[in-house]
Amino acid sequence: MKILITGGAGFIGSHLVEELIKIKENSLLVIDNLLTGKKTNLDFNHDFEFIVDELGSKESLEKIQNFNPDVCFHLAAQSSVVISVENPALDFEHNILQPIKLIQTLLKTDCKKFVFTSSGGTIFGEPEVIPTSETDFAGEPESPYGVAKKRLNELIEIMLDDSKISYSILNLSNVYGPKQDPNGEAGVVSIFANKFLNGEQPTIYGDGNQTRDYIFVKDVVSALILAAANNENLFLNLGTGVETSVNDLVSSMQKEFSSEIEPIYAEARKGELKRSVLNNSLAKEKLNWEPKFTLNQGMKKVFEWLKI
Ligand SMILES: NC(=O)c1ccc[n+]([C@@H]2O[C@H](COP(=O)([O-])OP(=O)(O)OC[C@H]3O[C@@H](n4cnc5c(N)ncnc54)[C@H](O)[C@@H]3O)[C@@H](O)[C@H]2O)c1
Repeated sequence: MKILITGGAGFIGSHLVEELIKIKENSLLVIDNLLTGKKTNLDFNHDFEFIVDELGSKESLEKIQNFNPDVCFHLAAQSSVVISVENPALDFEHNILQPIKLIQTLLKTDCKKFVFTSSGGTIFGEPEVIPTSETDFAGEPESPYGVAKKRLNELIEIMLDDSKISYSILNLSNVYGPKQDPNGEAGVVSIFANKFLNGEQPTIYGDGNQTRDYIFVKDVVSALILAAANNENLFLNLGTGVETSVNDLVSSMQKEFSSEIEPIYAEARKGELKRSVLNNSLAKEKLNWEPKFTLNQGMKKVFEWLKI
């Protein structure tokens, strides 16, 4: 199968590439502009084509058309909420404009499936229903990042409904795992684990009672692959359904590390959700999938990776 992966040098994308290259029959084209992705996330001992470029450049789009993929996993994105607030034009460029060009190009190929990683933590607004299902929109997203994700979901539906390409839109909760930047602004599991490893105090913004749905990256990858094999048009929330407060996360890490390091509390960040946890019933049903990693199991994998 010919598979296009955009954003394949990123955190989630590189895990997806790692899984897809295990299948000999797969031929992979990976495009990444290295905005946040890293070449070192990829294992070049395997046979796949890697292009460092904007996915929406003339050259990339020509390459994609010639490659003529059967499936496209679209993961490339300006993935920082903070940067989207600072520079909405940049966010719009990477998260709306270039993806539209990508879809227009794919419509000229024999591509049969488009899989998109949207954001379950932003598109629903401040959730009124917990755990949040696919129809539980409570308001508009608060950041340009969230707006772009929500609008691209709609554009995918408009552009691909009644086309020969079916789509799977997966609204991911908070993904964590090895290769997630421990020095980034998001990715609290990686950031905190790194602090504990270095004997430093993690900073909690707000009172720490805010909750999130932490899903291990390998569980996301298995769902993405199953979503690509499904020929229905799907709009699914992808999380664990388990609600964990930031304080609980820190307590789990203290136990894991047998550490007495206490967090520092700082002023809450504007626009942060109080509670966020996704109802994954539809994803379980449609994809015959379920998350396999508990937070403790996944956390251990992050520690092991950080120690290397
Ligand atoms: N990590 C999470 O918790 C989470 C949650 C919800 C949704 N998502 C989405 O999943 C996808 C992957 O996220 P991630 O955490 O791996 O982030 P990431 O930043 O590690 O990966 C995004 C990749 O896209 C690349 N990229 C950005 N703009 C590009 C462009 N115009 N052309 C080519 N490449 C481009 C970046 O260099 C990077 O490698 C993103 O779409 C993100 O919005 C992630």
